[in-house]
Amino acid sequence: MRDVLIAPSILSADFARLGEEVEVVLDAGADVVHFDVMDNHYVPNLTVGPLVCRALRDHGITAPIDVHLMARPVDRLVHDFAAAGATYISFHPEATEHVDRTIGLIRELGCKPGIALNPATPLECLNFTLEKLDLVLVMSVNPGFGGQAFIDSSLAKLAAIRARIDALGRIAGNEIRLEVDGGVKPDNIRRIAAAGADMFVAGSAIFGAEDYAGVIATMRKEIAAAG
Ligand code: DX5
Ligand code: ZN
Repeated sequence: MRDVLIAPSILSADFARLGEEVEVVLDAGADVVHFDVMDNHYVPNLTVGPLVCRALRDHGITAPIDVHLMARPVDRLVHDFAAAGATYISFHPEATEHVDRTIGLIRELGCKPGIALNPATPLECLNFTLEKLDLVLVMSVNPGFGGQAFIDSSLAKLAAIRARIDALGRIAGNEIRLEVDGGVKPDNIRRIAAAGADMFVAGSAIFGAEDYAGVIATMRKEIAAAG
């Protein structure tokens, strides 16, 4: 099985001690920092912007930062986050005017492009785009808040995208990640892995626990058990 990436969402971290929280969760075994950007328009919540991403880099965080844009206008934020040290930048296709242009812009600025799909977003937007992406982010809750329940129809969606990525992989040798975001917990992560995800966002399940390392280790064990 290919390597899997655990990406704690800082949405559930203690923002008053963000640098320390990110250091601690990476030391606890996380691979990637998931960075949720909400604008109070595209989603009904307001979080953090490029200044905070830059602050984490300046604090010494060298792990990949996975910026999940739930905000408009997308392209201007892409410039700002690329300059602020983002590694991945994912956006929701309905939030931008020109999906292909946004993918190209993210790539041009040296970041890894991803498309984020809401629970009711069909897969058509992956036509003509999938081969240009480094990441497909499947939202398994409606975007806007941490701590929501996993939506089960996401499993079928993950499996369908996994098949498309694998089909493409045989042709192009691609490295496209399939990320799941929302309601991921130790007790459902095995089913999610079996459906084909290889990058796992978890906010409340990790930051809501006393022992980050314990939760991450349990998640890895469950993923491995999925085979
Ligand atoms: C929701 C965010 C998620 C969220 C996940 O809009 O995109 O990244 O923080 O949080 P949990 O794991 O608590 O569902
Ligand atoms: Zn997210």
